[in-house]
Amino acid sequence: MTSQLFSPLTLRGTTFSNRAWVSPMCQYSCVDGLANHWQLIHLGALATGRAGLVMTEATAVTSDGRIAPEDLGLWSDAHAEALEPIVAAVETQDVRFGIQLAHAGRKASTVAPWKGSGSVAVEDGGWETVAPSALAFGQFAVPREMTADDLVRVKAGFVESAIRAAALGVDVIEIHAAHGYLLHEFLSPLSNERTDQYGGDAAGRMAYPLEIIRDVREVWPDDRPLLLRVSATDWVEGGWDLPSTVEFARQAAALGVDLVDVSTAGLDPRQAITVGPGFQVPFAEAVRREAGVPTAAVGLITQPAQAEEIISSGQADAVMIGRAMLREPRWALRAAHELGADIEWAPQLVRGRH
Ligand SMILES: Cc1cc2nc3c(=O)[nH]c(=O)nc-3n(C[C@H](O)[C@H](O)[C@H](O)COP(=O)(O)O)c2cc1C
Repeated sequence: MTSQLFSPLTLRGTTFSNRAWVSPMCQYSCVDGLANHWQLIHLGALATGRAGLVMTEATAVTSDGRIAPEDLGLWSDAHAEALEPIVAAVETQDVRFGIQLAHAGRKASTVAPWKGSGSVAVEDGGWETVAPSALAFGQFAVPREMTADDLVRVKAGFVESAIRAAALGVDVIEIHAAHGYLLHEFLSPLSNERTDQYGGDAAGRMAYPLEIIRDVREVWPDDRPLLLRVSATDWVEGGWDLPSTVEFARQAAALGVDLVDVSTAGLDPRQAITVGPGFQVPFAEAVRREAGVPTAAVGLITQPAQAEEIISSGQADAVMIGRAMLREPRWALRAAHELGADIEWAPQLVRGRH
């Protein structure tokens, strides 16, 4: 039987050689948001592993959109220049390159995980955070409610970063609207208490993220796919949920989103989640079926046979693999071998095949 995981997928004019993709993962290794040697060797190793899509970590569209001060950014031309050699290196392999565009909202200006936890104070190199409403996430600093100027500034950050990514020759961008970061904060009634046109009912809460999607799509080349990462549920009573996600996915697809990458959680510390292998896959399946849009599944997908089953049973069109790719950047080569799929290896590595 031929592997569906290792079958190509075409979105617009872009073909991915397989459906085992690298999930975006923060590296907390930049100074002033500039890519450096770490991104080159880390993303380079993943590229030689021949995942169908190698995606950067969350890449901040404005400097105050960084989760931690060490995050990657794309808010100036200097940031694009720093990414150039990395895009070039990754694209020497038969893989597509993606950038995840993000703004961390009220979860910005936090301590990198291996250095501690909580917010970074302004006097220690942190900054004032912004969010739909002045509501803190757990013990993090209370954000400032975004003004009309902030809304324009952050939207421009997404659009200008997309323009830079297009000029860099990046194949894919993914708008990060998951995990309790800014756009998810607009979506969820637990973090959005605005009384203007960007709050209130579900339509109001979706309005700002949808405007960003529309404006990014306008500047992003027609033949290149636009991905959207969502949290399909807050896992909290009264929070953002699957039916709202399906509606959001439907409207996003109508604006030109080509695939929805379906994660969950991250908005509220009260979240009650039962975690297990593939625990978020049913959400990807529901969005795919009910919104009629291609999806990626993510979360504890670690085994080749498990990934194969997700694709072949029609639960998702691609799988995003996170921690397993950190442990084993050439996961896709092993998976193809185990599934009996014939994928092209870099010639330098071929002797490792047997
Ligand atoms: C070190 C690390 C950093 C992460 N950073 C991001 C990120 O920048 N953007 C994002 O959407 N998800 C991020 N995630 C979540 C992963 O993309 C993925 O959704 C999650 O790890 C579950 O998949 P897994 O079980 O295959 O690891 C991160 C996860 C890890 C472990």
